[in-house]
Amino acid sequence: MTRIAVYPGTFDPLTLGHVDIIRRALTLFDRLIVAVAHNERKQPWFSLQERMDMVRTSVDSPGLVVDTIEGLLVDYTKAQGAIAIIRGLRNGEDLAYESNMTLMNRRLAPSIDTVFLLSDPAHMFVSSSLVKEVASFGGAVDEFLSPAVAASLRDRVALRRQPTK
Ligand code: COA
Repeated sequence: MTRIAVYPGTFDPLTLGHVDIIRRALTLFDRLIVAVAHNERKQPWFSLQERMDMVRTSVDSPGLVVDTIEGLLVDYTKAQGAIAIIRGLRNGEDLAYESNMTLMNRRLAPSIDTVFLLSDPAHMFVSSSLVKEVASFGGAVDEFLSPAVAASLRDRVALRRQPTK
């Protein structure tokens, strides 16, 4: 049986914290589907296609599939034949937030479990929004991103600095 898991997120942008979770999940499952969410609520800086490309250029593994997700996560997970949802945990705040989502997802789909992977200490304070904020004020963020993602972020910051006509 092919054991499949889904790792959903906004990934705006993908950080090395996410990459660490992806790599570790790939050792636990035969196939990992990284499911990139539209998430208009977060007003992403990068398009869905750009965010999918970030995953593809940052992780090279035969078990990796990159997709987009719309609608309910549990419906998507079931439709993919996956048995688990992967989420990264950085701290107690993440745990509180993730617990509610997990309990709701378990209520909606009892056959699907959520597997939490504790973030590497090096990435515990990293989030996509913090990285964008620091970069937008000219701070150095390369150590938190793969080289390709760091270059995309530099370009995006420059583009956003241009005055709109
Ligand atoms: N390393 C680095 N950053 C990490 C991390 C790690 N190990 N773990 C979490 N994060 C950060 C992310 O960068 C992100 O930061 P940001 O808020 O600054 O962007 C944050 O933690 C978590 O965001 P994300 O992973 O994008 O999740 P989310 O909380 O926005 O939820 C979905 C995204 C797709 C999982 C959720 O919206 C969903 O399930 N949508 C489908 C609809 C649905 O089923 N809803 C009902 C759910 S009960």
